Amino acid sequence: MAVPRSDLSIDIDRLQQRLADLAAIGAIEGTDGCSRLALTDEDREGRDLVMAQMNELGLDITIDGIGNVVAVMPGQTKGPPVMTGSHIDTVRTGGRYDGNLGVLAGLEVIETLKTAGVIPKRPLAVAFFTDEEGARFPPDMLGSLVYVGGMPLEQALEIEAIDGPTVGEELTRIGYAGSAPLPAAAPHAFVELHIEQGPVLEAEGITIGAVTGVQGISWQEVTVTGQSNHAGTTPMHMRKDPGLVAVECAAFVREMAMDIGHPQVGTVGRIEFSPNLVNVIPASATFTVDLRNTDEAELRHCERRFADFLEAAAEVEDCTFEIRELARFEPVVFDPEVVALVETTAQELGQSVLRMPSGAGHDAQMLARVCPTAMIFTQSRDGLSHNPHEYTAPADLEAGANVLLHTLLALAES
Ligand code: GLV
Ligand code: MN
Ligand code: MN
Repeated sequence: MAVPRSDLSIDIDRLQQRLADLAAIGAIEGTDGCSRLALTDEDREGRDLVMAQMNELGLDITIDGIGNVVAVMPGQTKGPPVMTGSHIDTVRTGGRYDGNLGVLAGLEVIETLKTAGVIPKRPLAVAFFTDEEGARFPPDMLGSLVYVGGMPLEQALEIEAIDGPTVGEELTRIGYAGSAPLPAAAPHAFVELHIEQGPVLEAEGITIGAVTGVQGISWQEVTVTGQSNHAGTTPMHMRKDPGLVAVECAAFVREMAMDIGHPQVGTVGRIEFSPNLVNVIPASATFTVDLRNTDEAELRHCERRFADFLEAAAEVEDCTFEIRELARFEPVVFDPEVVALVETTAQELGQSVLRMPSGAGHDAQMLARVCPTAMIFTQSRDGLSHNPHEYTAPADLEAGANVLLHTLLALAES
């Protein structure tokens, strides 16, 4: 070993350059953010860039049938790798850190080790998983879900995008339908570095989050159907307006979450009227509902309350409705030993650290089904994410990547 491990640290300028290079693909003009929805041309370009970096590092790369890419640095022994990684797809109005940081910091860790001549006992792997965002193809964390055997590949390939094509068609079109076996063999352990995407670390003045788990996620798509008619001639009391039902539901989701209180959250993020014209009472209204809570019973209770409200609101307006489940994941608790390792590693590196749950969904919650797993959070300025103005200061990126480096090393030597 050329350098004592305790002295190893990542090169923040190199990591920043990697983030900037990837963010240049699908860049949103006038911002630092980017738009690379899963399996679009922009996603393909991003994949090609990260694959090239994996190749430059001499890693063994595999691509599986859902397009997950895994790059392995051999260790001194064979066996399942200690894995890190995240995703490089973004929401349509995304930042440069969400997901990308976890993948590129993983490559930075490997470059740091290679430069120092360190070969850990176990292999190390860096992965990027397909369609973590779920914004184009629900559910979220689709690639990692299939990776761990939570959904058969055939079923995943049939999922339709919000703009039409299926996962299978788009994977083939962009050249990322690989052949590595699915479900994949379980790693030895998995640790994901991610920005917090919320305000807690910044508000508390703490650098590192040792993530204890991920809250439960419930996504539904509701389509309400009424009677399309002339906006000028139809008396108000004679309408069957699905648009009204949709906006009442949106207001209810907000009121319900406020009423239940922290940590319940509820969001109507997409709403579409058809035919969506100024002088036509809509024929139908389609909207999504995102409900999350760290407690499964609370989350179920919340789903029930929403269903009751929807039924009553539709009945009053004489409309019908259909519900399609887009995603449903129970809360996940991470491995206590790996969480403790993240915490002590941060402390040993002189960083302040807070144990905290994740409000966002992450690939780590899927990997937790098959191996000991935890996550490392770094601050998000103003708690902003899923927004091109998402920002994490270089010192925080550096601290997070160094905690990742030493956590992975400890796991790889264990
Ligand atoms: C995925 O990023 C989610 O939490 O919505
Ligand atoms: Mn993410
Ligand atoms: Mn995201």
